[in-house]
Amino acid sequence: MTIIAPSLLAADILNLEADVKMLETSGADWLHIDVMDGAFVPNINFGPGVVESLRKVTNLTLDVHLMIEKPERYIEDFCKAGADYITVHAEATNHLDRTLQLIKSYDVKAGVVLNPATDINVVRYVLDKLDMILLMSVNPGFGGQQFIEATYQKLEDLTNMIKGTNIKIQVDGGVNSDNAPKLVRKGATVLVAGSYILKHQNPKEAIQLLKRP
Ligand code: DX5
Ligand code: ZN
Repeated sequence: MTIIAPSLLAADILNLEADVKMLETSGADWLHIDVMDGAFVPNINFGPGVVESLRKVTNLTLDVHLMIEKPERYIEDFCKAGADYITVHAEATNHLDRTLQLIKSYDVKAGVVLNPATDINVVRYVLDKLDMILLMSVNPGFGGQQFIEATYQKLEDLTNMIKGTNIKIQVDGGVNSDNAPKLVRKGATVLVAGSYILKHQNPKEAIQLLKRP
């Protein structure tokens, strides 16, 4: 069954707890938390304090997507705040292998994120350290952008590359009920969706539609 991870970027920031409860009762599997530093991406939002507060009000898996330069500087903070998964951009660190080892040293699941133009070969030699690979299907920084079609081919190539492993493949950006079935067919196991779920008049129905095979 596909794992659905609503992105809190599209949630009501002043009523975050209410949105989290609503997503829980609507069938969300994980919560996707976008962290932006205004340097790696042209936007700024949550830090570790928000993750720590979320940890106190929900048992859902907290999936932290770090869109920050040199993410190794903040791994300890996000691990201690209660993250279950931490994903770092391959483009944001000079020491991907070491950063993944650091995440795992806190017994937190580790993932690599690839921007739309980044070749999947950058993860080839760290597969043994990965729990998840996140393919960005938009350029990171904002919710509500249009899905990039080249993601399908990339997903197919990545699915072939990791065959025989337990690594999850996550897709993030512009995901909706139109593209979800094809993404799942091509190997995606975790779908992130922000605006599609949170701007839908019935988020529960939106989550069900994303899960539909
Ligand atoms: C984009 C973020 C996404 C974003 C997705 O930089 O990584 O997680 O919230 O939003 P939608 O689903 O609206 O494209
Ligand atoms: Zn994200």
